[in-house]
Amino acid sequence: MKITIFGTGYVGLVTGACFAEAGNDVLCVDIDEDRIAQLNDGDVPIYEPGLEDMLACNMDEGRLRFTTDAAEGVAHGQFQFIAVGTPPDEDGSADLQHVLAVARTIGEHMDDYRVVVNKSTVPVGTADRVHAAVLEALEAQGLDVDFDVVSNPEFLKEGDAIDDFMKPDRIIVGAERPGAVELMRDLYAPFNRNHERLIFMDVRSAELTKYASNAMLATKISFMNELSNLAERLGADIEEVRRGMGSDPRIGYHFIYPGCGYGGSCFPKDVQALARTAREAHYEPELLDAVEAVNHRQKRHLVRRIRHHFDDNLEGLTFALWGLAFKPNTDDMREAPSRVIMEALWDAGARVQAYDPEAQDEAARLYPDESALELCGSPYDALEGADALIICTEWQVFRSPDFERVQRLLREPLIFDGRNLYDPEKMLAAGFVYYGIGRGE
Ligand code: UGA
Repeated sequence: MKITIFGTGYVGLVTGACFAEAGNDVLCVDIDEDRIAQLNDGDVPIYEPGLEDMLACNMDEGRLRFTTDAAEGVAHGQFQFIAVGTPPDEDGSADLQHVLAVARTIGEHMDDYRVVVNKSTVPVGTADRVHAAVLEALEAQGLDVDFDVVSNPEFLKEGDAIDDFMKPDRIIVGAERPGAVELMRDLYAPFNRNHERLIFMDVRSAELTKYASNAMLATKISFMNELSNLAERLGADIEEVRRGMGSDPRIGYHFIYPGCGYGGSCFPKDVQALARTAREAHYEPELLDAVEAVNHRQKRHLVRRIRHHFDDNLEGLTFALWGLAFKPNTDDMREAPSRVIMEALWDAGARVQAYDPEAQDEAARLYPDESALELCGSPYDALEGADALIICTEWQVFRSPDFERVQRLLREPLIFDGRNLYDPEKMLAAGFVYYGIGRGE
């Protein structure tokens, strides 16, 4: 099948690579000339395990191409995917200007039936606006061409995106007309194996499903973070509580890990955007607001513990920080807890020696002039002469370090662990002062 994808960001690239991998003829379009030149040179601008190889292999096979030519893009695919960014506005709502610009472009160049598929995370009602934008562009040229607008939200997790696309739990498709339903069924047939993964529904429900899923996951995390704060005050261990709760299949073990707050480009943005949508619909989203507020507070939790430990005086101290990315297996630092923690430490007059396996270039880009940030060559380099270690991301390499070496390198055997990587009793026995999340004051 012929597929065009507008937007070569994270979602667009993964979608393009995976559709090509399934044997389709894919053309990716972006207005950013540098980015397209880079991609044509085989240079992948984001870090995602497996993506670079998959792109290279499908480009070699001639199933995947990149262009800045929108007219060529519209002419190419029966399926026109919109996978451009929807950054939050100042008020927290999703900014749709790029999505609607692509819709207009499609309308301007379309001379035959097309399925316009919305993959970007967009507020409920956006498909109607996309429909109107395509129609307006067609009418401006006096054209009457048939098309469908379909909502097909993505559920990719950074770091697992290829697997999530190739072996999805579910494929949500919001489509109103039977013809579009059948085309989408054919398109996704290669990914719909073993049991039925396609779930068809009306367009608005599909749009809401995306936000609802992320908001539910964010709620689970904030709920556990709230409980972890309570556990600290009650002398309980949240990790035991988590195991006990997760064993109930109605609750489940997934996404109930307490920590230093959720980050990334999705949960914070989507919870806020859904709250905003609720208000626009004259509904007060009390739970969503609380999810957001708890997360905001949780990102500062370790800072409060650190301040308390040092009697509120961090001036002149040096902190080793392991993990800059908002989660493992990505170089993404958007809304990362590490940023809130580092910025608070700098404000208090402390220095940070940080190590992350992938996100150091991103940190250098975000904080080019920050003299109180030193990016180190290894986890152990970051420890040298530091007054304490802070852990913000649960990268595999941090899970079982050489604790004797850690102790030798640190000035004090002191760890603030935002991801509960270690056993508090063992740490105590090894001579560390160890603070986790929700495991004792
Ligand atoms: C999230 C969703 O998991 C995907 O299903 C969705 O498609 C994607 O957003 C999106 O909307 O594009 P992602 O942001 O890549 O994916 O990352 P997650 O693995 O969900 O982690 C989000 C944050 O929650 C991380 O900061 C992580 O550390 C935190 N988290 C996760 C916890 O604090 N505790 C947990 O138990 C799980």
